[in-house]
Amino acid sequence: MKIFIDTADIEEIRDAAAMGVIDGVTTNPSLVAKTGRPFKDVLVDICEVVDGPISAEVIATDYEGIVNEARKLSAMHENIVVKVPLIAEGLKAVRTLSDEGIRVNVTLCFSATQGLLAAKAGATYISPFVGRVDDISGSGMELVEQLVTVYQNYGLSTQVLVASVRHPVHVVQASLIGADVATIPHKVIHQLLKHPLTDIGLERFLADAKKIPTG
Ligand code: E4P
Repeated sequence: MKIFIDTADIEEIRDAAAMGVIDGVTTNPSLVAKTGRPFKDVLVDICEVVDGPISAEVIATDYEGIVNEARKLSAMHENIVVKVPLIAEGLKAVRTLSDEGIRVNVTLCFSATQGLLAAKAGATYISPFVGRVDDISGSGMELVEQLVTVYQNYGLSTQVLVASVRHPVHVVQASLIGADVATIPHKVIHQLLKHPLTDIGLERFLADAKKIPTG
C-alpha cells in the first residue's frame, strides 16, 4: 500500500519525507487554510520536497470552472493530481480531464455507488472519507471493502485512496483490505512507528552499552 501524507504543512511533509516513507501528498482547502499561506506557494514547496502524486483541490463547483481550475493546477507541475468533488458537475469534469490525460482524485466519497460512477468517469483515485463515515456511526472500512471489491469485479483501474484517516487501526485495516493508498496525517504516521517495547528495549541496550569495557 502506498502512503501519502495528508497535510499542507511543509515542515510535516519534510519530516515524513526524510524518513523515506512518503509516496505522495494530499491537501484540501481546509488544510491549506491552516497554513495561512497562498495556495500556489504551498504547492510549489510541496513539489520541491516530494516526487510523487500531489493532490490539489479545485474550489469551483460548475463544470467550466472545475475544468479551467484543474488545467491551471495541472500545468503547475507534472506531479499535481487535481482533486474534484463527487458531484454531477465534478463527474462531467472528470471525464473531460481524464480524456486530456490529467489525473484526477475524486474526493468526498461516501458510498460505493458514488465510487462506481467516479471510476466510470475516469478517476485516477477515489477518496473514501473513512473517519467522517465513522463519525456518524457508519463503517468507513466497510465502504473501502465495497470499493475494492467493485473495482476488482469489473477490472476498473481507479485506485482506492483511503482518506480521513484518524488512527493507526484505520491504516492496518486499509492495508488488510488491499486499498491502493492511505493518506495519513503527520501525527498518525508517527503513531504508526511508535511501540513502547521498542523504547524500553532501546533504553536497556543503551544502558548496557555503557557497561561494556572500553578496549
Ligand atoms: C484528504 O484527501 C481528505 O481531504 C482528508 O483526508 C479529510 O480528512 P478529515 O476528514 O480528517 O478532514
